[in-house]
Amino acid sequence: MLTLSIIKADTGGHVGHSAVHPAMLATASSRVSDAVDRGLLIDGTVAACGDDVSLIMTHERGADAEEVHSFAWDVFQSTTRVARQHGLYGAGQDLLSDAFSGNLRGMGPGYAELEFTERPSEPVICFLADKTEPGAWNLPLYKMFADPFNTPGLVIDSKMHDGFRFEVYDLHEDKHIWFDCPTDLYELLMYIGAPARYVIHQVESKSLAEVAAATSTQRLSLIAGKYVGKDDPVMIVRAQSGLPAVGEVLEPFAFPYTVAGAMRGSHHAPFMPVSQHQAHPSRFDGPPRVVALGFQVHEGRLGQPRDLFDDPSFDEARRQANVAMDYLRRHGPFEPHRLPLADLEYTTMTQLEARLADRWEPLPTADRQPVSAA
Ligand code: 13P
Ligand code: 13P
Ligand code: MG
Ligand code: MG
Repeated sequence: MLTLSIIKADTGGHVGHSAVHPAMLATASSRVSDAVDRGLLIDGTVAACGDDVSLIMTHERGADAEEVHSFAWDVFQSTTRVARQHGLYGAGQDLLSDAFSGNLRGMGPGYAELEFTERPSEPVICFLADKTEPGAWNLPLYKMFADPFNTPGLVIDSKMHDGFRFEVYDLHEDKHIWFDCPTDLYELLMYIGAPARYVIHQVESKSLAEVAAATSTQRLSLIAGKYVGKDDPVMIVRAQSGLPAVGEVLEPFAFPYTVAGAMRGSHHAPFMPVSQHQAHPSRFDGPPRVVALGFQVHEGRLGQPRDLFDDPSFDEARRQANVAMDYLRRHGPFEPHRLPLADLEYTTMTQLEARLADRWEPLPTADRQPVSAA
């Protein structure tokens, strides 16, 4: 059984929160090559989206493996030191804990891990995002695995006809549930349409009994109890042969749908699919970016990545994202550009409320709203 792990962290930005410094990438890459040489990993590569570094690794140690997680933690300590040497912004931003113990759960770095038996041909797409939260994957995962208007394979391919199962996490209450689609389609949408709280963690093919997709679900603000930067999630999706074709996996991103993130992690803004060399969000710390790196995994090795949004057929999505960004920006500090209070509650709102608690006074009786008996 092979495990593909993407472990990522923001350990410092160049300049501000816009990108990763080349010296940090060089450090991470040499550490990953060492780990391959000494047999910890079968293969590994380093990629960035905005100010987040992703270690994309294959191994046979399973998900949540202590040795793989502690290796990633060490790499992020090293890139943090490089960030400090160069005076980069927010050095060690996502490293919320002082010491590693067992695995990365609750420590700040995000990770998506998928265990599978390699097929004769194994196309896998690694999605990396910056300036948004894990629920950003809900809409595209729904379209890839449940919407025949996006994925004709659901209608045409007999191996896809039975549909897919979606595992959804409730991040506020630490619960999870499986939805069996198409039967549970409407129930699924009721939850995942609220992506700040409900996040798709995995998708499984019913007829192949295989995991087809996995996401990172860490919410930094819920771990830290305050705003410490956005989660900037990653996702792994396997494609073809009874799973959505590569083009069906990418198609949802032709619509630059709105996600939560951008400036101070507190604004709705369009999600822009970009090539790696455009993955540097600098306008209003946005628009939030998504990069798609395709791999033909072979004998456990990743091979050459393909930069899948480096394609003029996504130019129109990028143009529409800029139009949507202009429109939303004109709202300034008003909703729906700014996140609703319920979502800010988990970030800056809590502190503000504590500070102003004494200044709020009850309304005069005559001005109070009648309370419904129901
Ligand atoms: P597979 O069923 O071999 O994945 O082919 C589907 C396809 O690639 C159509 O675009
Ligand atoms: P990052 O989470 O990418 O560091 O962004 C933080 C931020 O506040 C951007 O304005
Ligand atoms: Mg940052
Ligand atoms: Mg980031």
